[in-house]
Amino acid sequence: MKIAVLAGDGIGPEVTREAVRVLEALGLPGLELVEADVGGAAYKAHGHPLPPATLEIARASDGILFGAVGDPTCDNLERHLRPEQAILGLRKELGLFANLRPARVFAGLTEFSALRPEVAGAIDLLIVRELNGDVYFGEKGIRVLPDGRRQGWDMMSYAEDEVRRIAHVAFKAAMGRGKKLCSVDKANVLETFQLWRDVMIEVSAEYPEVELSHMYVDNAAMQLVRNPGQFDVIVTGNMFGDILSDQASMCVGSIGLLASASLSEGTLGLYEPIHGSAPDIAGKGLANPIATILSAAMLLRHSLGLEEPAARIEAAVAGALADGIRGGDLGGTMGTVAIGDAILERL
Ligand code: NAD
Ligand code: IPM
Ligand code: MN
Repeated sequence: MKIAVLAGDGIGPEVTREAVRVLEALGLPGLELVEADVGGAAYKAHGHPLPPATLEIARASDGILFGAVGDPTCDNLERHLRPEQAILGLRKELGLFANLRPARVFAGLTEFSALRPEVAGAIDLLIVRELNGDVYFGEKGIRVLPDGRRQGWDMMSYAEDEVRRIAHVAFKAAMGRGKKLCSVDKANVLETFQLWRDVMIEVSAEYPEVELSHMYVDNAAMQLVRNPGQFDVIVTGNMFGDILSDQASMCVGSIGLLASASLSEGTLGLYEPIHGSAPDIAGKGLANPIATILSAAMLLRHSLGLEEPAARIEAAVAGALADGIRGGDLGGTMGTVAIGDAILERL
């Protein structure tokens, strides 16, 4: 069982270190961790945010634990050299098209939600975000129009097979949960999302037990704070899913709590917190490592089939939170390592 550990930039190494401590503490026989450079750190060391050696280590692994990439000192590099290209490249190269972002409120934490406690208490949803298409991966550029004005442009598209495969992931996820699937789109304006909706309806014929509904993304953003308890599984495109998942994190209480799994057709998956490199708090030992620790649990479950240790990690995290373990993001004073220690104790 080989796990590639790609810590990346900013708080990435800080939070990844805690997740690695948790994995090591489980004492799983045959577990091997291999570290590799990625993001701005890799650019600085090797001249590329996703060096071939890193991609090979990731490809040869059974699961990838990813911290975060992003470095303000790299923001003016040519786009293909920017740190963010590393995570986009890994998702595309490894066919990681299905991003699962669960959002559930933890016991005792409803008061930390940006929503009223009784509204927050009902949150138990899963965002299934398509990760290999949409406006993210279309042709793009900045061109000069005949009249001399500069114009930025990005091509948005989804082919029907791309929509169909994420639809199947979402319907199957709904079958394993509350059997309710809400497809979030912008079919009232965008042809890309008219096709998206058409294909969702076609695929729904294969899942008669799942109740499929459709919602425009602007309404979905509103409903997510008005009444998040109405959602079971949400399926949406790459960009809408990016935005709605950050929003969902504050409905739960902190972006430092939300984990994610990015899955391929096979067993290989990449596991990362939904947050970024947080340059504003990087290097200070203040980041909440829980999102990354929960991502490690998802790795054990989805890529290694190890349900029992995954559940143990989740129980240790829930126990720590229930006991009042809080970082600065949740109004507390504990740092990254102290939160890691508290979870290890409960493990
Ligand atoms: P961010 O998620 O890094 O930070 C947003 C805010 O949330 C900041 O105030 C930060 O301090 C706080 N925050 C984030 N994670 C936290 C944690 N674990 N504990 C406590 N507070 C936390 O978003 P941003 O500032 O827009 O982006 C910073 C960089 O990260 C950019 O370069 C961006 O492109 C990159 N990014 C990378 C990923 C990824 O690697 N998958 C994801 C998102 C953003
Ligand atoms: C995320 C991030 C990435 C995305 C960026 C860093 C490319 O925001 O993983 O949510 O937009 O997918
Ligand atoms: Mn994001």
